[in-house]
Amino acid sequence: MGKPIVVFGSFVVDLTGRCKGLPVPGQTLMGSSFKMGAGGKGSNQAVAAHRAGADVTLVTKIGKDVFGNVAMDFYKGEGMNTEHILFDDERETGIALIMVDEVSAQNEILVVSGACGNITPEDVESCRALIENASILLVQLEVNFDALYRAIDIAHAAGVRIVLNPAPAAEIPPEVLKKIDIVTPNETEAQVLTGVEVKTKEDAERAAKVFMDKGVKNVVITMGALGAFATDGKKSELLPRLKVDAIDTTGAGDAFNGGFVMALSEGRDLFEALRYGNATGALSVTKKGTAPSMPSRGEIDRMVEENYHI
Ligand code: RIB
Repeated sequence: MGKPIVVFGSFVVDLTGRCKGLPVPGQTLMGSSFKMGAGGKGSNQAVAAHRAGADVTLVTKIGKDVFGNVAMDFYKGEGMNTEHILFDDERETGIALIMVDEVSAQNEILVVSGACGNITPEDVESCRALIENASILLVQLEVNFDALYRAIDIAHAAGVRIVLNPAPAAEIPPEVLKKIDIVTPNETEAQVLTGVEVKTKEDAERAAKVFMDKGVKNVVITMGALGAFATDGKKSELLPRLKVDAIDTTGAGDAFNGGFVMALSEGRDLFEALRYGNATGALSVTKKGTAPSMPSRGEIDRMVEENYHI
């Protein structure tokens, strides 16, 4: 097992309907199935890292309600550490309304962050020792930003490596970006944050330069059908997408981030970790759902060995 990872981020309950196509505004479509389950980018990434064999602790906040029970039951079933799951007295557990197109495997998501949008600086302080003793802090943008910035400050001051998955895309102040070791947007988020439309390796290099000029040390961009890109400023690589039968792409980015940080925590370099992230993301789209679709370490190792021989 690698060095400890802390994921600071969201838990929400995913309410997912599947249908042929996706409704346009004003249109009603009849769906074919519905599922409720654990979701939220922070939680999904922690689950992905846990199933990949990492030593990971999730810090998130849930309500004292039935959806909060969904979280606790799920983590118990997974054998995950729940010591740093916080409870909100007022706000309800967050939810995500997800529609999946069974033809294209694409999705549309509306997130209401609920309790995980109400994490206080005191909550974060109660996790200070945990964050300071981690090797990696992995964060996203689905929680309230004052709490997020406090977690980043604690990690930065303690020399903990910070991986920011800037999803959903939102403006990040320059003084925060300077503290980030690795930023991992998808191509759309990269465009929103850098102004560069990312369609080729050269575009990804240009977008990466914008991040690096702002002080980010390494850049990874997941580029959907094109694969995944990484640069440390000296070397850059666009790793092609692994060919799989995709049935649900929801949570693929989360799977990527979980597999990626697992590999980093085991001492792999940026480009090896890119391969673990790519394999984890590819495997996740072959199953329905978000957290439930995260692959096991055995599946990831087989995929990595067959495709990358490492
Ligand atoms: O990245 C997928 C996740 O985004 C879903 O699980 C949903 O909860 C939203 O947060």
